[in-house]
Amino acid sequence: MSDFLRKTVLITGASYGIGAATARAFGRRGAHVLLLARTQSALEEVACDIRASGGAASVYPVDLTDARAVEDVARQALAATGPPDILLSNAGAGRWLFIDETTPEEAVAMMAMPYFAAFYVTRAFLPAMRARGSGHLAYVNSPASLVAWPGAAAYTAARWALRGFVEALRAELHGARLRVTTIIPGLVATTYFEHNPGVLERVPGLARWLLPVLTADQAAAAIVRGIERGRREIVLPGRLRLLYAVHAVAPGLVRYLTILTGARRSG
Ligand SMILES: NC(=O)c1ccc[n+]([C@@H]2O[C@H](COP(=O)([O-])OP(=O)(O)OC[C@H]3O[C@@H](n4cnc5c(N)ncnc54)[C@H](OP(=O)(O)O)[C@@H]3O)[C@@H](O)[C@H]2O)c1
Repeated sequence: MSDFLRKTVLITGASYGIGAATARAFGRRGAHVLLLARTQSALEEVACDIRASGGAASVYPVDLTDARAVEDVARQALAATGPPDILLSNAGAGRWLFIDETTPEEAVAMMAMPYFAAFYVTRAFLPAMRARGSGHLAYVNSPASLVAWPGAAAYTAARWALRGFVEALRAELHGARLRVTTIIPGLVATTYFEHNPGVLERVPGLARWLLPVLTADQAAAAIVRGIERGRREIVLPGRLRLLYAVHAVAPGLVRYLTILTGARRSG
């Protein structure tokens, strides 16, 4: 299938994990994928795979927490390919720590990635997308943007900031013919757990018992399908959608079970 032929898809965090798998999935469908992250060698590998499968790829190594660097990359990308048809803000990081375990520096870093990174990249590309009057902005967030669990305070705060930003963006874009999508994956087997040690041990029992662990390719397929269908929200897997539905009618119950089966502070 090549229905994304000649579409430009910008993906942040495209060097590893969900971003790399989604970049390859869009590439297989004929898109020109703009790959953003810090690790150039990993981005080049993803770009090679995309070209081998019939898509096009351009690599933009950048630290997305550096606003100036994001603006420079945006200038280069806009000059080379014009405004993206799809902007997928996926890059994310952050360990799960109790408040007293979190240094002020790490709390700031967790706000910078993913929240400020999403803000910078949106701000850099939005004017050109608005001027063209079409396009799709999509943001990978976390179940922590709905329900908080113990031992992930700064992580959770950054995801709520991202959620607030996306809702504000929707309000600002009302009538602008630009779509906005939120993507909430459950557990996906990626390098996230190597990049952010200790996270896996603090996943609340409710999620471990209820949610199957997806592969990055499964997550990517669901993301591409959801964006193609213009979904407002992509929640995966289906059992997490079920938990969302229960939360809509009984938020206190889901909150209680999440906390009850969550990490305990020793001592
Ligand atoms: N895996 C899960 O179970 C899961 C569940 C819910 C939500 N998510 C969310 O899904 C998104 C992708 O996560 P993942 O599982 O694919 O994690 P991952 O394998 O660790 O990939 C994270 C990506 O973000 C990029 N990144 C991190 N810091 C960056 C920076 N300062 N500047 C530019 N790029 C940066 C990394 O590239 P470089 O290191 O090369 O810069 C990498 O490409 C994240 O937002 C994560 O919070 C994941």
